[in-house]
Amino acid sequence: MKFSTIILVALRQINEFVAHNGVAPIPNPSAPLPAGQDGLKLSNDPAHPFITPGPDDLRGSCPALNTLANNGYLPRNGVGRPDQIVTAVMEGLNLGNDFAKFLVYQAFLMNSNPLTNLMSIGMKTPLTGQDPPKPALVGGLSQHGTFEGDTSMSRVDAFFGDPAAFNQTRFNDFLSFATKYGANGTYDINATAELRFERPQDSIMTNPQLVFTSPRILSAYSEAVFPLVYFVDGRLNNRQLTQDAGSSFFANQRVPADFHRPPAPVSFEIIEPMVNQIFTKHPFTPGVNHGRNNYVLQPKTPALSDFCRIYGDIVLRVVPGQYPKPTCQLKDALNKNLGFFYDTVKFQHNCTQAFPYDKY
Ligand code: HEM
Repeated sequence: MKFSTIILVALRQINEFVAHNGVAPIPNPSAPLPAGQDGLKLSNDPAHPFITPGPDDLRGSCPALNTLANNGYLPRNGVGRPDQIVTAVMEGLNLGNDFAKFLVYQAFLMNSNPLTNLMSIGMKTPLTGQDPPKPALVGGLSQHGTFEGDTSMSRVDAFFGDPAAFNQTRFNDFLSFATKYGANGTYDINATAELRFERPQDSIMTNPQLVFTSPRILSAYSEAVFPLVYFVDGRLNNRQLTQDAGSSFFANQRVPADFHRPPAPVSFEIIEPMVNQIFTKHPFTPGVNHGRNNYVLQPKTPALSDFCRIYGDIVLRVVPGQYPKPTCQLKDALNKNLGFFYDTVKFQHNCTQAFPYDKY
């Protein structure tokens, strides 16, 4: 098919979609929690009871979002708007507003349906509406090779099975690293540094198709420190996650009884030095396996320390990979979300804004 024909077909699909469904309005991102309401608080409160997810409820690769859905901070069916997800992680776990938006809009650009403004926290689902034209994936957070990637702490690499499903064997390693390296058997910064280093070493030896490049390296390293920040009871707030609390979040996907969120919103300024600390202890270079134990360095992929280039990689390579030439309402929706995403990186990192489509 000629390129112009592809564009016309895509345009027609979007127009038909819009004629049938309309385009969902895109609300502005949620504001920070108001002063005075952003402190220590019981997360497992009567308004947020744990309910075991039903067979049609979607859950995926993120233990935090799964837990927040099981406790009703997120829609229990596992499909939500970005502003709902930002609010849920602020309310339930006291993520700082800019950091919450950074995670959510990043995921949203790779995994959602921009026309309906909906994303699955699990696998692909018709609940996010009719897909925009391919190569858009609208795969949900479980879509491998987008936000989800190899070397997870509690999931297997995609080569070995479902990379979004909790894996007890993997998680047993998490617990044994806490026992071996952490203060009093907790998952602390030392256990984190060792486990985060061991995971790619293990995958290099066993997974012939390992991919450990941008943007996955950033999420892998950030997610490694999240548990000792956001899963530790805010009354202690000592960056030492007990194995019981860890098991509640990871294995049972349930806010522990009497759990209080951190006493103040936690954002880039706390997460990034911790990421830096574990990276400095055991540096690595991004790469991919060409067969088992054949790790080929990828000098063109941004390094973990190069935040602005990782931002540029997402915006100029990953997003246009799914939306090469968006038109009309689809382009407007993407541009709006790209703007929200950029807003979260500009003050913190002073990155130059990247425009995959027209300047807007
Ligand atoms: C705010 C929006 C968030 C989004 C969109 C998100 C998304 C994701 C995704 C896609 C993964 C899978 C990565 C992989 O292992 O391949 C993941 C993993 C993870 N997330 Fe989240 N997440 C969010 C917030 C949080 C928060 C607040 C926490 C707090 C603890 C958290 C903790 C984790 C952890 C620990 C993992 C790693 C699981 C593992 O390696 O086994 N996430 N997240």
